[in-house]
Order: sequence, then C-alpha cells, then structure tokens
Amino acid sequence: MADEVKKEAPANFKVTIDNITIEVAPGTTILHAARQIGGDVTPPAMCYYSKLKGSGGKCRTCLVEVAAGSAADPRPMPKLVASCRTNVMDGMVVKNITSERVQDARAGVVEFLLLNHPLDCPICDQAGECHLQDLGYEHGKEGTRYEFKRRTFEKEDIGPYIQLHMTRCILCYRCTYVADQLTDNRVHGILDRGDHAEISTYISKAIDNDFSGNMIDVCPVGALTDKTFRFKNRVWFTKPVDAHRDCDKCCGKVTLWQRGDEVLRVTARKDEWGEVQSYDGKPGWICNTCRFDKKHVNDWVIEGPTRINRHSVISQGHYLGLQKPKETIADVMGGRAPKLLMDIHNVSDVNSVDISALPGPATSKTFEKK
Ligand code: SF4
Ligand code: FES
Repeated sequence: MADEVKKEAPANFKVTIDNITIEVAPGTTILHAARQIGGDVTPPAMCYYSKLKGSGGKCRTCLVEVAAGSAADPRPMPKLVASCRTNVMDGMVVKNITSERVQDARAGVVEFLLLNHPLDCPICDQAGECHLQDLGYEHGKEGTRYEFKRRTFEKEDIGPYIQLHMTRCILCYRCTYVADQLTDNRVHGILDRGDHAEISTYISKAIDNDFSGNMIDVCPVGALTDKTFRFKNRVWFTKPVDAHRDCDKCCGKVTLWQRGDEVLRVTARKDEWGEVQSYDGKPGWICNTCRFDKKHVNDWVIEGPTRINRHSVISQGHYLGLQKPKETIADVMGGRAPKLLMDIHNVSDVNSVDISALPGPATSKTFEKK
C-alpha cells in the first residue's frame, strides 16, 4: 500500500515563487528552489550555508510568505517562514519580493541586526563583499530608534592569522559549524544567551587546525578578518584571479586578490550566493597553507580572471568575465518589462510623449500640442 502511494506521488513538486513556477525534487527547501530560479527572487541568507550541516534558522533574513501551503491544502501559512528551513510542498505558492509583509519584516530584521553592529564600513575589510552591507543598502533606515548603549568588545587576536571583532558579529553560528565540521576538535561556541551572547574566546584554540581560515570565508560580516590582508586594500581595488596549485591538504583551487603582481589575499572561490564553490559535489574549502603562506604569484598556476557572478561592488572593476545576476523581474510581473511598471502613460494623460523613444533630450517643443 505504501508503495502504491509512493508511485502516485509526483516525482517533482511544483512550486511558484513570485509568480515563477518551477519543479523541484521533494525535500528541497524554499530557499534552494528560489536559488534554482536565481536573481532577485532568491531571499538573502545570512546564517544558512549549504556546505555547513545544521546551519540556518538563526537570522530570519530569509523570511518569505507562503500564500498557499500546497495543492492539497491551499490555505496560507499565518506567519512568515524561514525559507532556509522550510521544505516546499507540491502546489505551494511563495511570495518574496512580491510581498509587502516580507519586505517590511526584512527591514525589521536588518534593523535588529544593526542594533549593535557598528556602521564602520569605511574602515572594515569586509566592505564591498559584506552581506549585511548589501542588506543595509536595500532595507536599512536612515536613523536608529535604539536608545541603549551598544555592545562593544575588545578586538581579539585569534592566533596569528585571524582577528575577531565581536562588535561586528551577528551570531550566525557559521564559524562554529566550520570549527565543528572542518577542524578536529571544536573548542569554541556561543556563550551566554540573548543580549549577552558572544563567540567564546576559546575560538583561539581552534587556530592550530589547517582549515581554521575558512571561518573568515564563511563570516557574512567583518567579524572574522584575515590579518594578513587587514587594512592593506579595498577589495574593489584588487583584481581577483583564479589560480590553483597541487596541495596535499585541500583542493588547491583559490582566488588570488592581486594588486599588480602582488598577491594581497588568498580566498576560496565563491559562488553567486557567496558560498565556497563545490568540486565534484565536495565543498572547495582551502587549507591555511594555501591561504596564508602562498602569497607569491609563482606559487600558483594562474587560470585567468575570476568571474564575479555575485551582485558585488567588485564587479565595478569591469574585469573580464563579469556575469550579471539573472534578471527575473519581467517574469515576476507576468511578462511586463520593468520600464513599463512605472509607465507614466498609464497614470497621466498630461504627458503623452514616450520620452525614452526620443532621439535626444526632451525640450518644451516636444510637449507642444499638435
Ligand atoms: S564571527 Fe562571523 S561567522 Fe562567526 S557567528 Fe559571528 S558573524 Fe557569524
Ligand atoms: S538564512 Fe534562513 S534564518 Fe538565516
């Protein structure tokens, strides 16, 4: 009987996200379904990291509205749900950028994340590739409503290569998962709860491990920074280059961040979601030797300029291979081009001139009644 039910169940679930319908395998989360569509439809994720087991469900930036739970039970879910932790159902209808509730809630989450986080982007090494900075631009408010003293911490050296700025930490837990899953013994974690929660100083004991540097790559903000790169340059002035070497500890595939011939920083290669790329289904974590000790071009076989496919200020360097994020807005709006969404002809009969179709700038003559 159970087998019969299994046979009748659809092989794939149909899910509609922001008016775009796709089919995904059962067990896929809403976030992963949205990533398969790509572009603006994909919710941001500050704590979820697909290569780290157990991550997600902490930050609430990925909240979405479920307008219909499934084809069998099309009732909406009363509360917004974390898309990184909620699986799709067949016939589910999800709203992300088309939901005002979601945009409002996300603005609230960003406001919370920024309660204690300093706005020190001008001096922070993460600026330009910081997920919180991007969110702040999209949803942040000009002022603050917070009237209490902010949490501050002393900067802490985590071994010779990593510095912890607890003041910037958003408690996403990603670094603890790296220590848990990539290093032999996890000797750090989050101490205390609520407003007192902080990454334990025992993190410094994990530093001997060859893969501890990956904490820097997973940190979505500037709380864990590479001491060999600190204050050396702004990322948008550096040139990312794909390179590899034979390494007996890791995949050896990295991005070199160069200024001229000088290698200022070595990181794992990132995908469009800001996560390390996978090779043959395995995450491309890199070892500390590749990251911190190989800072000469001669240490590496250069493959060519890195393709920046994440929405990032680094793209402003116009390096070869720039891939723009997928444009989904026309699909979301049922085929209407973004330009038409604000078409003044629909709301005003005063201006009947299609300004964008003029060969040059509009003048008073353009609007004279014929
Ligand atoms: S230090 Fe970074 S990675 Fe670790 S919990 Fe804080 S924000 Fe997350
Ligand atoms: S990414 Fe889903 S809760 Fe943080």
